[in-house]
Amino acid sequence: MQVVDSLSGFAVVEQAPAKINLALCVVGQREDGYHLLDSLVTFTAFGDRLGLSSAPEDRFTISGRFGAALDADDDNLVTRARDRLRRALAEQGQDAPPVHIHLEKNLPIASGIGGGSADAAAALRGLLTLWRGTLPQSVLDAIAIGLGADVPMCLAGRPLIACGIGEEITPVALPAMPIVLANPLVGVSTPAVFKALACRDNPPLDLEARPADWLSALARLRNDLEPPARQLCPDIAVIADGLAATDARVVRMSGSGATCFALYPSMEAAEAAAAALKQKHPHWFFAATITLGDVDGEA
Ligand code: C5P
Repeated sequence: MQVVDSLSGFAVVEQAPAKINLALCVVGQREDGYHLLDSLVTFTAFGDRLGLSSAPEDRFTISGRFGAALDADDDNLVTRARDRLRRALAEQGQDAPPVHIHLEKNLPIASGIGGGSADAAAALRGLLTLWRGTLPQSVLDAIAIGLGADVPMCLAGRPLIACGIGEEITPVALPAMPIVLANPLVGVSTPAVFKALACRDNPPLDLEARPADWLSALARLRNDLEPPARQLCPDIAVIADGLAATDARVVRMSGSGATCFALYPSMEAAEAAAAALKQKHPHWFFAATITLGDVDGEA
C-alpha cells in the first residue's frame, strides 16, 4: 500500500481536535441503556487531521503515531461518515463523487478524548466542503448522532455543554487554557466503564456563570466515570497522580478514560510538566497544547 506522509497535496484539510470532558456528570439512564449526561466539553488545538481530495475511486489511508493501531480496510467511523453523508446527499439530488480520505492519527485510540468521533465529524465537515454539499441541520444532526454519541459535539467543535446522551448541545463561553493530555496507552472500553458505574443518578453540572477564576471553578467539578475507570485501569491513578505533582490547577480524567488532562496557568508551566512526565514515562503519551476558547481573558 502506498504510504501518504503529508496532507499538503490534499484539496481540503480538516482538523479533528481532541474532545475534553472538563466535567462529566451521569444524571440518569434511558430505557435503551444509554446514559444521560450533563457534560462541559472543550476541544484542543492538538488532534488528528484529515486530508480529502477527489479520486477515481473511494480510498481511505492512515498515517501518524497511532495509525498503525488502525486498519484502513476495517469498518471505521470515517468511512461510515462518508457513506452516510453520500446517501443523504443523494436523497437530496446532490452529487458525492469518489474521494480519497487520509487520516493522520495523532490521538491515542479508545482514550476518552473523542478520537474516532472527532475524525467522523471532521470527515463530515471536510466532505461537505469538497462536495459543496448542503443539508438541513436536522439531517446532519441525525447523521452525527447515528455515528456515535460524541459525534454531534465534535461536529460543533467549540466549548459547549452536552446533555441527553450527547446530542443536546448548548454553546458556552470558555477561555483558551493551557492543557496537558496524558495517556498510559491502555485502551479503556467505554461500555465497560458505564457498566461499572456505582450510581447513575448523580447531581447535574454546577458551573458558575462567569467565574472570575476559571481554573478554581473548573477544579470544583467532577467526572462521574473516573471512579469506575480507575477500578478497571489502575494506570489512571498513576497518571493522575503524576499530573497532580506538577503545577497543575485542575487534574481530571476525560470521557471514559484513560486520558487524563491537567490545566495550567501558563503555557510554560504546561510544557514543563509534559517534558518532566515524558522523562519519567517515556512510552506514555503526553501533549502540551491549548484549549480552543472563545472568550477573551485569562483562565
Ligand atoms: O455512541 P457510542 O458508540 O460512542 O457509545 C459507546 C458505548 O458507550 C455505548 O454502547 C454505551 O454502552 C456507552 N454510552 C452510554 N451512554 C452515553 C454514551 C455512551 O451508555 N451517553
